Amino acid sequence: MAMAVKAGFPTNRWMVDFHTHVLPQMDDGSRDVQQSLLMLSASREQGVGCVIATPHYYAHRETPEAFLVRRDRAEQQLRGAMENQTFPELRVGAEVRYYEGFGHTRMLERLKIHGSNLLLLEMPFVCWNDRMLGEIRFAQENLNCTVVLAHIERYLRYQRDPQLWEKLGQMQLLIQASAAAFLSLSTRGKALRMLRTGKIHLLGSDCHDLSGRPPNLGMALDAIERRLGEEPLERLHQLHHRMLK
Ligand SMILES: [Fe+2]
Repeated sequence: MAMAVKAGFPTNRWMVDFHTHVLPQMDDGSRDVQQSLLMLSASREQGVGCVIATPHYYAHRETPEAFLVRRDRAEQQLRGAMENQTFPELRVGAEVRYYEGFGHTRMLERLKIHGSNLLLLEMPFVCWNDRMLGEIRFAQENLNCTVVLAHIERYLRYQRDPQLWEKLGQMQLLIQASAAAFLSLSTRGKALRMLRTGKIHLLGSDCHDLSGRPPNLGMALDAIERRLGEEPLERLHQLHHRMLK
């Protein structure tokens, strides 16, 4: 991964925010360039070294081509405003909403996180069945990607299959959890357990703005370090750098 550790940030804090809505006017995230800059500043202040912009992609609303035109424009706007200032590295991807047959849409290859093989996928908020898992397997082959399941903590309450984790473990996919899961008293214990047992591979703030859903990855890293020590952070750090070229 082509980035140097900046002075002032301990190495284990040079982390990647894998899930954000910082691109201006793309979705229900940042409303304009100014808000995007403030979100990036907040991330930098928390020691985040790389922010991945993952605007929502909904196939029922637009084609991947139309999405890419909008995303390129938003990215250019934001990069223009970032010039001559210090911000985390910015990369683009998408948060693709699952739909039946998504693995057949070859253009989704272009929605992978830049400089990686990762496709962030938002799954349905229902109990997943084997057909859905099969779709993911097919997509991984046909789109030549590694699927990342977005914000895993939000689906857990719907799952009923006692073998789900075993099945997911055999699929070579990655699992992203939200920073917020480590900050709320009601979800923290479970999130820490999942991280400790290797069920969580990537972290993201899923930030949409500066107040309701703000950049909070640094706070989650602090919470993790206080309870589990440095080992899981170092493990995440190593994995993140292997995933991004
Ligand atoms: Fe999101």
